Amino acid sequence: MTEPRHFLSLLDVTPTELKHLLRRASELKAMRRRGESYTPFANKVLGMVFEKASTRTRVSFEAGMIQLGGSAVFLSPRDTQLGRGEPIEDTARVLSSMVDIIMVRTFAHATLENFASHSVVPVINGLTDHNHPCQLLADVQTYLEHRGDIQGKTVVWVGDGNNMCNSYIAAARQFDFQLRIAAPVGYEPDADLMRICANHVELVRDPLAAASSADLIATDVWASMGQETERQQREEAFAAYQVNAELMARAKPEALFLHCLPAHRGEEVSADVIDGPQSQVWDEAENRLHAQKALIEFLLRNPGDI
Ligand code: CP
Ligand code: NVA
Repeated sequence: MTEPRHFLSLLDVTPTELKHLLRRASELKAMRRRGESYTPFANKVLGMVFEKASTRTRVSFEAGMIQLGGSAVFLSPRDTQLGRGEPIEDTARVLSSMVDIIMVRTFAHATLENFASHSVVPVINGLTDHNHPCQLLADVQTYLEHRGDIQGKTVVWVGDGNNMCNSYIAAARQFDFQLRIAAPVGYEPDADLMRICANHVELVRDPLAAASSADLIATDVWASMGQETERQQREEAFAAYQVNAELMARAKPEALFLHCLPAHRGEEVSADVIDGPQSQVWDEAENRLHAQKALIEFLLRNPGDI
C-alpha cells in the first residue's frame, strides 16, 4: 500500500506543487464567486482534531470540505477519549480507518508527526507550536492576488519567532523571497530552520531598520496559545515591536500588511494599520478557505509513492 502524502510543513511540498496549489486556490475562489458548484468528494470525510481553540481554521476546513461535496467531523479532547489519555498513535490508527483525510491542531509538533506516522490517510497540520503552514498558503495567495509573484520580494516579519514566523521562513525558501525577521533577543525562530533556509532569511533586531523598503510586513500576537502565563513578560519584551504607521512608512508605499488573526489592536499592531488601506487581513482570512480546498484536493488526488 502506498504511504499517504502528509502536509505537516511547507517543506513537504515542492515549490512547483505549491505554485500549482495556489493557482488552483484562486481558481476555486473564482468558481465560488461565480456560484459554480464543484463537488468531487461526495462521501469523503475530513476528521478535524482540535487540541487548541480556533475560529478560522475550523470554519474554513469544515465549510471547505462541505463545499467540495464531503463532510467534516469536529473532535476535541473535551469530548473524545483523547482527553482521557488514549494514546495519539491509537487515535490515529482508528480515525484514519474511518475517514479519508485528517487535520490536526495540537501543541508539540512531535505529537503531529507521531499522529501522521500512524495514519493511513493524509494528515494536514492545522497549527502546532512549531509551524502553521496552511496560514502561509493563504498569505502567499493573498500577496499574489494583490501584488503578483512574491519571488524576489522583501518580506519582513516583526515580533515573535513563533509558529507563524517559522512558516514564513519555510515559505521564503519555497517561494524564493527574502525574509527579514525583526525579533527581540530570546524570541528567535527555530535555529535549524534558519540554517536550512539561510540563503533566504536574515535576522535584524531593529524593527524599523528591518522594515526598510519592504514589499510585505507581517506580524502575529506576542503571546501564542499555550503562552498565556508569559503575557506580561512578553508585552515588555515586544514593546518596541509594534507594527504601526511609523514602521509602515519605512516600507514601500505599495507594501501590504498581513496578520493571521486573531489580532490585538494596540499591541502587536496599531488599529490604524490593521484597519488601514495597506492591510489585506480579511482577504487573507478568506483565502484560508480557498487555499485549503486546493490542498484537500491535492492530497486526495496525490496519494504519494513514498
Ligand atoms: N489564523 C488562524 O489559524 O486562526 P484560528 O486560530 O482562528 O484558526
Ligand atoms: N501564533 C498564534 C497563531 C494563531 C493562529 C498561536 O499559535 O496562538
